[in-house]
Amino acid sequence: MANTIVAPSVLSLDYSRMTEQLNEVNESGAEWLHFDVMDGHFVPNLTFGPDILKGFRKGSDLFMDVHVMIEKPLFFAEKFISAGADNYTFHYEVMDDEDSIHQLAGIIHAHGKSAGISIKPDTPVTVLKPFLKDFDVFLIMSVEPGFGGQKFIPGSIDKIRTLRQWLNEAGLKAHVEVDGGINEVTAKLVKEAGADVLVAGSYIFKQNIKEAVMSLA
Ligand code: DX5
Ligand code: ZN
Repeated sequence: MANTIVAPSVLSLDYSRMTEQLNEVNESGAEWLHFDVMDGHFVPNLTFGPDILKGFRKGSDLFMDVHVMIEKPLFFAEKFISAGADNYTFHYEVMDDEDSIHQLAGIIHAHGKSAGISIKPDTPVTVLKPFLKDFDVFLIMSVEPGFGGQKFIPGSIDKIRTLRQWLNEAGLKAHVEVDGGINEVTAKLVKEAGADVLVAGSYIFKQNIKEAVMSLA
């Protein structure tokens, strides 16, 4: 892959040292900041809302990659966009039909922001085929969404490869982003398959942040 973008997930930040770690991330060579929003309904965990994103926006100039694992992504889209989201990625699985997906992508683009769609490990990559032209980011979950520190699911690799092939055949330049269980070993596998944005939480925040980021780039 040309240039790999590393997106540290703030879910795994040490919140007793937030400013210190955020400054380290800012200087680490990471280009995106991955912001995991969970509502306790779509996933069995609860994280942060738009007001916390405003705090991160003040503390970092990195591209704010918001990943919402919530049941109402349409309701919250403008709230997160005005709080500082540069990309807004929602889940295929919560949407009623194809029209609602096209519609939400359109709303995000109408605000001049990057639009992303994500699928869980058990969702086939074929569901994304009607939307190849709608999105700037396709987020392939390589763990069951809800928690950091889980084991990488190898079945994700074929989904990445297939998706990148479809995008190439269509002459589309969208990002293929992978999220979950990324470390120096799995990073190589997903990059070879065509991923160009790598999310990592536990791998990055449990060691020297800059070294960890560099080992994934
Ligand atoms: C999980 C989140 C991921 C998670 C990645 O639901 O979407 O972004 O924070 O954490 P690691 O890299 O530890 O698997
Ligand atoms: Zn995520």
